[in-house]
Amino acid sequence: MSDPKIIIALDYADTQPALELVARLEPAMCRLKVGLELFTTARFQLIEQLMQRGFEIFLDLKFHDIPNTAAQACKAAAELGVWMVNVHALGGRQMMEAAREAMSLYTQPPKLIAVTVLTSMAQEDLADLGIVTTPAEMVLRLAKLARDSGLDGVVCSAREAALLRQHCGSEFCLVTPGIRLADAAADDQSRVMTPCAALGQGADYLVIGRPVTRAADPLQVLQSIIKQIGEVV
Ligand code: C5P
Repeated sequence: MSDPKIIIALDYADTQPALELVARLEPAMCRLKVGLELFTTARFQLIEQLMQRGFEIFLDLKFHDIPNTAAQACKAAAELGVWMVNVHALGGRQMMEAAREAMSLYTQPPKLIAVTVLTSMAQEDLADLGIVTTPAEMVLRLAKLARDSGLDGVVCSAREAALLRQHCGSEFCLVTPGIRLADAAADDQSRVMTPCAALGQGADYLVIGRPVTRAADPLQVLQSIIKQIGEVV
């Protein structure tokens, strides 16, 4: 099985445009990320449809609950057969360990990763919560906690990838959104990086949404990124 580095974010309100895009893609080119918006509309039937077409799925529902509930939610994701699932590291060690434990029942469990600090949160937002460290310090702290709780990796900005790679080891999986092509608009992402630069910083997987999904020719853009990063499809 190939291990494509690109994860296309299917950020659509409805199933139809998502399936229209997916009809033009091949599993060897990319994996697919289904987040809260699309999952809430389309539910697991869409996940099953995408998997039947041979795609591996990152179920990006960012579970954050008491340990038992979060672990059961991760178990439900594993039963669906997704490739990757995530929880909020702010749920704490017990919650992450319970999720890890639930995954240990499976011979081929999904990769279990954590969200550290949402990139939408600035220093003032953390201060509102009574957190007095900088976002970067908090990201590192939560990434180490995720690693120590047995998780496979974290979602992080490509700008944090080198630091996390240094502190969390070579096996820790780093999944980076905020990817933009050299000449493209940043949209609402403030800290962006090109695909090659992100991989150079130590990212394992690149989450890419609008640069592909909103392109006039999504397939052509995806193929050009695949070529840039030197993947053979
Ligand atoms: O369209 P764009 O490439 O900006 O999409 C990035 C995807 O990554 C979106 O699905 C967004 O929700 C997700 N994401 C992010 N920043 C994070 C975590 C997830 O942009 N810190």
